[in-house]
Amino acid sequence: MVDVLLGLQWGDEGKGKIADFLTPSYDVVARFQGGPNAGHSLEINGKKHVLNTIPSGIFHENCINLIGNGVVIDPILLRAEIEKTIAAGADVRSRLYISKKAHLILPSHRLLDAASEKAKGDDKIGSTLRGISPTYQDKTGRSGLRIGDADSPDFKKLYTKALEKHISVFRYYAFDYQEELTRLESQWFEAVEYLRGFKQVNSEFFLHRHITEGKKVLAEGAQGSLLDLDFGSYPYVTSSNTISGGACVGLGLAPKHIRKVTGIFKAYCTRVGSGPFPTELNDETGEFLRTKGHEFGATTGRPRRTGWLDLPALKYAIMLSGVDELIMMKADVLSGLDTINAALSYEGCSDEEQCPFNIQGTTVTPVYKEFAGWQEDISVMRQYNELPESFRNYISFMEAECAVPIRIISIGPDREQTIQKK
Ligand code: GDP
Ligand code: IMO
Ligand code: MG
Repeated sequence: MVDVLLGLQWGDEGKGKIADFLTPSYDVVARFQGGPNAGHSLEINGKKHVLNTIPSGIFHENCINLIGNGVVIDPILLRAEIEKTIAAGADVRSRLYISKKAHLILPSHRLLDAASEKAKGDDKIGSTLRGISPTYQDKTGRSGLRIGDADSPDFKKLYTKALEKHISVFRYYAFDYQEELTRLESQWFEAVEYLRGFKQVNSEFFLHRHITEGKKVLAEGAQGSLLDLDFGSYPYVTSSNTISGGACVGLGLAPKHIRKVTGIFKAYCTRVGSGPFPTELNDETGEFLRTKGHEFGATTGRPRRTGWLDLPALKYAIMLSGVDELIMMKADVLSGLDTINAALSYEGCSDEEQCPFNIQGTTVTPVYKEFAGWQEDISVMRQYNELPESFRNYISFMEAECAVPIRIISIGPDREQTIQKK
């Protein structure tokens, strides 16, 4: 049996915190897409941990953490992350499993990301510069390297062949790559060797065996539904499928094994990087959300753009993934506001077309509903019925609008700051 946990907005919804919170009910936590563009924060006993490629169940004893075939791995970054996580007390050696089919981010992929972003100028995606898009391009172009290839005596040859192609692209961009490439290359090969010391598996068989043995699996998404390659605000998206369907291809999982899809959303919205954001607030309320919510990228440190909750976009994400239950995050950040807004629709858009084909460059005007705020500090509350009435009204409204129950309300970064409803 597999449950899927994913973000319903533009990322950073709090997936790491919730995956860690839910892990005690699962035997396996498996990441199915993305790579070190992700930054998943967990706070345990007041200490913050950020995971990029390692699944968020790693701090729990007896939990298998699988990096699936749909994930792209930068060996240098994964090695550093493993060492940091071991130093933080997690037994990564026994808990981490890596799919042999996961593709490798080469040093040249990182540099190609930088070259492409530079060439785009004002139209840049605002990528995390982790080489994500070039790596997935080589995967679909059938010229990528997988981590399992490192066992082959021809590995170096495969690397050189891939690099030759990349060099021709650097020339096209007139991009100065040599110095940085030389700096990274030896570290990269050492890190690939280091990772060979970890458990690399045929992950589709590995996962299937655990499912047939009756084990419980949590498939952990990265990024968010609105960054999905097909359904996000293209081209301002990431290069993988972040919706629930992505869990099937990213793990070799048959859809019939999926029991439940849980969608996570913030009580407001954030976005990092470029692209449309209809409810964005470029005013003092936006600044209030950024400061109080510590809305700065866990991976890149970039300030996140902030805005009101966008219901057309949220409902779209719920539809795409068949979300069965919702988790609302970070409502504590809204405490202290006299009124709170949420977009109910976009002006002039029919129900069928609430998320238009292309909103980039066009003006989408959100139609807002205003809610009464609350002044209490809800981050110290632990029971649903302690929460202020105006907040409970906000929750009920969202449940009715989305026609999906909200099961958990997160009111702070710590594991303890989590309220189960019902
Ligand atoms: P992820 O990428 O979806 O795992 O989310 P990030 O870790 O990038 O961003 C979420 C941020 O919000 C992190 O700094 C978390 O520690 C923090 N956080 C998570 N849940 C809550 C919450 O309910 N309230 C507050 N104030 N912070 C939270
Ligand atoms: P988590 O898992 C927020 C955004 C980037 C950029 C776009 C493409 O922490 O929620 P990429 O490097 O993937 O080619 O960048 O996607 N992006 C994220 N935004 N959270 C993330 O991950 C993101 N991963 C990528 O900012 O706009
Ligand atoms: Mg994040």
